[in-house]
Amino acid sequence: MATTKSASKKGLNELFHDTLKDIYFAEKKILATLPKMAKAAQSDDLKAAFEKHRDQTEEHVARLEEVFDVIDKKPVGKTCAAIVGITEEGAEIMEEYKGSPSLDAGLLAAAQAVEHYEISRYGTLRTWASELGLTEAVNLLDKTLGEEKETDAALTELAESAVNVAAEAA
Ligand SMILES: [Fe+2]
Ligand SMILES: [Fe+2]
Repeated sequence: MATTKSASKKGLNELFHDTLKDIYFAEKKILATLPKMAKAAQSDDLKAAFEKHRDQTEEHVARLEEVFDVIDKKPVGKTCAAIVGITEEGAEIMEEYKGSPSLDAGLLAAAQAVEHYEISRYGTLRTWASELGLTEAVNLLDKTLGEEKETDAALTELAESAVNVAAEAA
């Protein structure tokens, strides 16, 4: 039935826009947090990984602005309680494990929680963009999704060595 279909499409449009605002807020929060994590990290490799991803995150923000443009909306964020909570936990780790050999393992765990959140959001948004026929948005979201996945894999590798360092010191 044509009317039902158009009503459901309208709903998905709104959901897409709302979720875009959520991840836009989250990316900006991550952009502000990564330099602090790079500063706190003990291993040079982990510092470098956080710095590299900070630069990528700048691109993620820019790509999201392009996606807003695709749907003719202004780039506006909406407070995302999930990312606020995840970054608060990261800040607690930095505070409580300062000087501990386990600090990097803790930072990695916090960073991976962030990446998994992003992977979840970008996966969803890409699916919805495709459903809505927003081909350009699909490409933009897919590019970022790929970088989040690569970052997650790189962090997993670093986590194995960080956990070893922490275990040896224990
Ligand atoms: Fe990102
Ligand atoms: Fe990320």
